[in-house]
Amino acid sequence: MSSLRAPARRAGSMPRSAIREIMALAATVPNVIHLEVGEPDAITPAPIIEKAFAAVRDGATKYAPNAGLRPLRESVAQRCGARWGKPVAADRVVITTGAIGGLFSSLFAVLDPGDEVLIPDPGWPNYEAVAHLASATAVRYRMPASRGFLPDIAELRALVTPRTKAILINTPGNPTGAVFPRPLMQAIVDLAREHGLYIISDEIYEDIVFDGTHVSAAEFGADEHVFIVSGWSKSYAMTGWRLGWLICPPHLSATAASLQEPTTSCASTPSQMAGEAALAGDQKVVDDFRAMFQRRRDLVVKAFAGTDYLPIVPAGAFYALVDVSAAGASSFETAKAALLEAAVAVVPGNTFGPDTDKYVRIAYTIADKDLAEGVRRLRTFLEKRGSTSAKRTAHA
Ligand SMILES: Cc1ncc(COP(=O)(O)O)c(C=O)c1O
Repeated sequence: MSSLRAPARRAGSMPRSAIREIMALAATVPNVIHLEVGEPDAITPAPIIEKAFAAVRDGATKYAPNAGLRPLRESVAQRCGARWGKPVAADRVVITTGAIGGLFSSLFAVLDPGDEVLIPDPGWPNYEAVAHLASATAVRYRMPASRGFLPDIAELRALVTPRTKAILINTPGNPTGAVFPRPLMQAIVDLAREHGLYIISDEIYEDIVFDGTHVSAAEFGADEHVFIVSGWSKSYAMTGWRLGWLICPPHLSATAASLQEPTTSCASTPSQMAGEAALAGDQKVVDDFRAMFQRRRDLVVKAFAGTDYLPIVPAGAFYALVDVSAAGASSFETAKAALLEAAVAVVPGNTFGPDTDKYVRIAYTIADKDLAEGVRRLRTFLEKRGSTSAKRTAHA
């Protein structure tokens, strides 16, 4: 008998985020305040649930086409067209399994093994994981706090090589809460045009903006360069329905749709009916969620007032990066200590890229009272650590 053959190296070596480790540890600590969870605490508004259930009872239990149900693709096209001030063809819309499905399909539609894709640091860890699975190289571009967690065009340009296929951007940003201003979006689109690159623009937090306005990469007349990834998860508290959309360059929509077949075949049909109900229903729910997150953002900013822990006031999404460099340890060690010593769970910054190791991420997705207590615990913990580490440095 011969020995068992080696399983896939690529799958086995996929970058894993430290957040799972923190979550597993958090489960062992009593009375933890969870500032690590990146999803709205609300459940999906009742009218959406009811319409989806009714549709299922009426037979919406079958496969959908790879690209999604036609009426839903048309609703998404209409919604995007209204926001971008131009008609969007429904043929460019692919309904995906969550926004992650749109990221997967867009990256696989443009990347061959050995190609490069520029991804942000700080950036959502799944960007690197998908690029890895595509046997491509993820090249980080920096978005330091000193620039408000925004990229610099000259730095981006310097990273472009003949192997670069795409620039991945995310606005409003996870984990930064930064919102890219219009001139920056224009400059990124110009750079993509200059070098013949694709832009994959992750706009899943587009409805959660408190200061300024969300600007989509789709607004600059560069349709053949631009993929827009977005969906229902954050705007309508629909993370568990696993539904998203991808707006493709016209010449790549058939490819993106065909990529659904060997991955998920199609997004879940009951979820698509829920998505249709969400877009057709009263949009006040979206405004209410935004107002709730803004109130919590303000609470976090107030709780850190008079300290250097918050490098920027987050303008959107529901995250803030907290500078923990004063604690004098890596972000993972600091997150672990905050959990064990102060019973507050946060995500270590190195999850989001090597340049983000001096931060931890908090998500303001829990009730105000718990949030206030969690942030108080974190601040007290950092102040205590900071003074000990300052003493240590003074003695060194
Ligand atoms: C930046 C970013 N993009 C995409 C997603 C994935 O969204 P979905 O749940 O719709 O797949 C998330 C989820 O946390 C996210 O933070």
